[in-house]
Amino acid sequence: METEIAKAGAESVRKAAAVIKSGGVVAFPTETVYGLGANALDPEAVDKIFAAKGRPADNPLIVHVADLDGVYSVAREVPDSVAKLIKRLGPAPLTYVLNKTDAVPKNVTAGLSTVAVRLPAHETALKLIRETGLPLAAPSANSSGRPSPTSASHVYDDLKGRIPLILDGGPCAVGVESTVVDFTGKTPAILRPGGFGREYLEELLDCRIPLFMSGGDKAVKSPGMKYKHYSPKCKIVTVPYTEDVSDSLKKAYDNHVQTNEKPVIICQTRYFGESDGRIYIPLGETAEDAARSIFRLFRENEDKYGVLICQMLPDHGIGRAYNDRLSRAASRQESAPETMLD
Ligand code: TXA
Ligand code: MG
Repeated sequence: METEIAKAGAESVRKAAAVIKSGGVVAFPTETVYGLGANALDPEAVDKIFAAKGRPADNPLIVHVADLDGVYSVAREVPDSVAKLIKRLGPAPLTYVLNKTDAVPKNVTAGLSTVAVRLPAHETALKLIRETGLPLAAPSANSSGRPSPTSASHVYDDLKGRIPLILDGGPCAVGVESTVVDFTGKTPAILRPGGFGREYLEELLDCRIPLFMSGGDKAVKSPGMKYKHYSPKCKIVTVPYTEDVSDSLKKAYDNHVQTNEKPVIICQTRYFGESDGRIYIPLGETAEDAARSIFRLFRENEDKYGVLICQMLPDHGIGRAYNDRLSRAASRQESAPETMLD
């Protein structure tokens, strides 16, 4: 199959909508990462997503809708707090786990009675949803286990020959996936940290929101979190955030030089050593910059270097999502080979 990359615009969105309405899959930009979308109400179309990505069938998909009516079309119960939040925020990098309606096929939710729904804050994604008139099931548009794609070329590198069309909306503004929040319990719980900060959500909902994440646990609430994720081809070493992160980065770099592993340091520019002979790649200045860049930096450097020595950030706001993705990318390599990947 030929894979076309088309600049996002009225005509290409119409073309993409036609592919989706006829049961096909299309990659499209969102504010977080690129998604691989299909008609969420058509189980055969949804199967094509799992096949193209090589995704395990027990990892459910997020359903993308354009407005609150779209949420009601897939969710049986929408708590008042969620309806209010959606009205207030509109599209945002926030995914709501709710009890599903019978309209949502089993393979979308991997047999769960809940469905994850979100309104993507990206014009092209919203236009595509409206043009199809359908809710779109869409995981990140990477091959299972690879770093999530933040540009059309990343999608192409992973999925060329497997999907007919990629809508190119340029680089993603957020760069890490949405925050997944379970609203089916007594109180909300974060299942995956992401582009929407926990602290802000707590402020909006006026309650404490626990992080309910896990790795490798059978009872894990967000099934995708048990899989190894986001891994580039080279080794990742994480350096915890401290006042002395600059020294720790240098030490880690020098250790890997000694073992001839071709290291590079990825850190905020303020921690660069001056003319010290070590190789540095900038993460930018803010946590937002870091989140926007990290998956791209994995992909751009995985063939050039043997070890990416990456600084962590304070566990706050989008920094928490950045740290989570980095730790998961690194942990894959320290443990036994995994057969199941997302
Ligand atoms: O930003 C995003 O969320 C991107 C863009 C494309 O929207 N999508 C994305 O999808 O990251 P994916 O499939 O890569 O991750 C979906 C996550 C997985 O961890 C999955 O297990 C979880 O959401 N999830 C989906 N449905 C769920 C459900 N019913 N209950 C709990 N977790 C669910
Ligand atoms: Mg993913």
